[in-house]
Amino acid sequence: MKIEGSVALVTGGNRGLGRAYARGLVERGAKVVYAGARDPRTVTDSGLIAVALDVTDPASIAAAAQQLSEVNLVINNAGITRGGPLLRASVFEDARAEFETNVLGTLAVSRAFAPILGANGGGALVNMLSVLSWVTFPSSGTYSASKSAAWSLTNALRQELQAQRTQVLAVHAGLIDTDMVAEMDAPKTAPELIAARALDALEAGLDEVLTDDVSAMVKSLLSSDPKDLYAALGQ
Ligand SMILES: NC(=O)c1ccc[n+]([C@@H]2O[C@H](COP(=O)([O-])OP(=O)(O)OC[C@H]3O[C@@H](n4cnc5c(N)ncnc54)[C@H](OP(=O)(O)O)[C@@H]3O)[C@@H](O)[C@H]2O)c1
Repeated sequence: MKIEGSVALVTGGNRGLGRAYARGLVERGAKVVYAGARDPRTVTDSGLIAVALDVTDPASIAAAAQQLSEVNLVINNAGITRGGPLLRASVFEDARAEFETNVLGTLAVSRAFAPILGANGGGALVNMLSVLSWVTFPSSGTYSASKSAAWSLTNALRQELQAQRTQVLAVHAGLIDTDMVAEMDAPKTAPELIAARALDALEAGLDEVLTDDVSAMVKSLLSSDPKDLYAALGQ
């Protein structure tokens, strides 16, 4: 996928990692970068075009797809976490919200834009996943499950979109320094660096990118016994 001259949409492009993706695309010469946001007024960077887009709202997705018929790159970045153990009282409400956004939102945006990508030569779909697609922590059960499901969907989308020559890139990362994990006191990678590594992988034509040491380490241990994998994570 060549970013220079592309027409891109980034979901959740108003802040955090999505903003870093959007700015990175502008720096690399994308012709147009649409920053999808639930509230378009929160898109403040020059060079970005704000688009109203709530990935849990079918009407909002349909309106965006109708408006953005020239897009050839979609970055499914929007995501939420509610955190907390599986035995907490609010777990079903939290899990439904996480699955609505992280899984079904990603699927709905991908389905709406798949024909547009196809009509524009194939293009690319980038799905923002996590190291938690592969492992879980006591505080991340429902979020991890949602990211595992999104990883599976990403693999299925790659198979289904192969015929129309759409590149589908899975992006995995550990902690990124954004609002989402602001309360966590642990090493984090700058969103600009994660976005840059993902965009490098996109331009290299890859299917998957491990954007930091944690995601690379976990991937390397996936064939281990779970006890060894979780021991390596200090669990
Ligand atoms: N931060 C990490 O450590 C980390 C690690 C691995 C993967 N990730 C993933 O990276 C992606 C970006 O996360 P982040 O760290 O940048 O989080 P963030 O700072 O909390 O930003 C989340 C973004 O998603 C948007 N969003 C949430 N629900 C939405 C919806 N229904 N429709 C449209 N946009 C919605 C938010 O928009 P509003 O401003 O309207 O809320 C915001 O732009 C997520 O998929 C997350 O799961 C994050």
